[in-house]
Amino acid sequence: MCGIFGYIGQKPAVDQLLLGLKVLEYRGYDSAGIAVLNDKGSINILKREGKIINLLNAFKSLEKNKIYASQCGIGHTRWATHGGVSSNNAHPHISYGGNFAIVHNGIIDNYREIRNMLTNEQHIEFVSQTDSEEIAHLLELEFSKRYSDIIRSESTQRERQKAVLDCINVVADILKGSFAIGVICALTPNCIYAYKNLSPLAVGRNSSGEMYMSSDLPTLCNFCETAYALSDGETAIICKRVAFFDKGIEIQKKPIRLNKEKNTERTSDCKHYMEKEILEIPDAILRTKDKLSLNYMRDTLPWLTKKPETIYFLGCGTAFHACIFASYYTEKICKVYCKAILASEFICQDVKLNDSTVCVFITQSGETADTLQAIRKAKQFGVRTIAITNVALSSICSISDSVVPTMAGVELGVASTKAYNAQLCAVVLLAVYFDICDCIDFRHSNYAEIQSTITDIANRINALNSGKSKIEEIAKTLRRSDRIFFIGRGFDYVTAREGALKLKEISYLYCDGLCGGELKHGTLALISKDVYVVAVATQTDSMKKMYNAVAEVRARGAKCICVSCFEKLNEVSDVFIPIEHVEETMSPIYSIVPLQQLAYLTAVSFSLDPDKPRNLAKSVTVE
Ligand code: G6P
Repeated sequence: MCGIFGYIGQKPAVDQLLLGLKVLEYRGYDSAGIAVLNDKGSINILKREGKIINLLNAFKSLEKNKIYASQCGIGHTRWATHGGVSSNNAHPHISYGGNFAIVHNGIIDNYREIRNMLTNEQHIEFVSQTDSEEIAHLLELEFSKRYSDIIRSESTQRERQKAVLDCINVVADILKGSFAIGVICALTPNCIYAYKNLSPLAVGRNSSGEMYMSSDLPTLCNFCETAYALSDGETAIICKRVAFFDKGIEIQKKPIRLNKEKNTERTSDCKHYMEKEILEIPDAILRTKDKLSLNYMRDTLPWLTKKPETIYFLGCGTAFHACIFASYYTEKICKVYCKAILASEFICQDVKLNDSTVCVFITQSGETADTLQAIRKAKQFGVRTIAITNVALSSICSISDSVVPTMAGVELGVASTKAYNAQLCAVVLLAVYFDICDCIDFRHSNYAEIQSTITDIANRINALNSGKSKIEEIAKTLRRSDRIFFIGRGFDYVTAREGALKLKEISYLYCDGLCGGELKHGTLALISKDVYVVAVATQTDSMKKMYNAVAEVRARGAKCICVSCFEKLNEVSDVFIPIEHVEETMSPIYSIVPLQQLAYLTAVSFSLDPDKPRNLAKSVTVE
């Protein structure tokens, strides 16, 4: 989704901004733009629909020295929410007087009222349909009302900066909703301002003294060694140095040490990040298992001294499927009430929360707006919260009581793969820890045994990765008009849902994931010879029932693909994909891999880019 990037240093800002926006690309966007500010206080803006390359080409065709001399600027990748995809709607937006340019992430809930007021009372003409442009106009308006003398007088840069900061705070009080804002002002050359409310924003500095700003900490890792994450309500003035303010009062912030993530390049033998990330699943699992030692769990969960009575698992998309698995697995292991709840639904429900409830939030990015809203709601009830996340220092880490990290490494493909397997692994270890947290002596626990089962699963996934020719064949036979139902029971239901989501996300086929037992309560009406059914069967208890379900849909003409460790299913399959028999309660960590491969290979056979599916973002930072 939308991304903010800013730069001040000794290099041409245009180059740095384009580099930054390129790194932000993985989050998904539909247009991009930059605004640079030169020493004389003139702002130049360039915006284009579509990919960063369009912006780059537009820049190349410009008279270079006009904007190339600038060493300060802000940039933005936009994900359309209010107003269609167009260069007018792309950010940065400039104020009516030309003194302020802004970039914005988030949603301004009261933008219509502000727009009406600015149009009717101030006669300001808007050039975009966004909920962001009014921020630039409000800044200009407040500045002209309060500080017109500063514009005329021989004021110092510092006085002008203070005035801009004051206006940003005034405007922030008018705005309702979530907003991270980057601002440049023609009256204060070589300076960027940042403001954060409910949407992430950070400032970075490198050893050459260059300053950066981004809404995405992982992006900053590519440019800086040190960063400062803004908290809600804080502003920053970024020039050669950075100063932070809370309601106008200067504050000190703790620096965060950034480590450049290794291994973020695609290797030459992988055409896409998704392919690379599927191959990295075994490592993601093993690293997560190694990180989450018993000692680590004890240190990160010092407050967990007795087994909770109720555990809720909350997340969105793929992470929600990890939540369903977590609820099944934890209930089985701990024998306590567990429930998976969509983060976006939790906000609308009156879920019973009390002292003996623990809420676990699962999120790859740690920035999903619905998940962050859900954790804020849980915290209002005083409930203990745990975040399972793949991005250290993401927003959820500073809100939750404890963090259980997944160690999947940077995941750039929009459709989550290795992070999901790592989430399932973290969930297993957390469940075991919930069960034994009140033990005085952990020596007799089965934690080490579970860890070695995870190692075994990782090794078996390696074998799956080397034998996928059958899946490639299926992918090639699928047509764009096909409809596909994925079915499974118990733990396999989780895999069926995630398999359907993966295929839907990147191939645009109509897919649905169902409980095997629910077919006969509606979906059978849709079963005909134009339909594929993918059945996942790894559970001994439900093997016979799955056999019957497959036979039933096959009798109605559906083409059946079975992913199973039970050879018997071959009798009723059109295509049988044999997998090994692994520990049944943990099988989703393993059995999802052929379905991740199927999704990837289908997208490729349709000549689609699996890394950047249409209309989907990696990090969904608006509710
Ligand atoms: C988006 C992404 C999915 C992801 C979901 C939740 O929909 O496209 O891949 O599963 O958000 O993201 P999170 O970062 O919270 O796991």
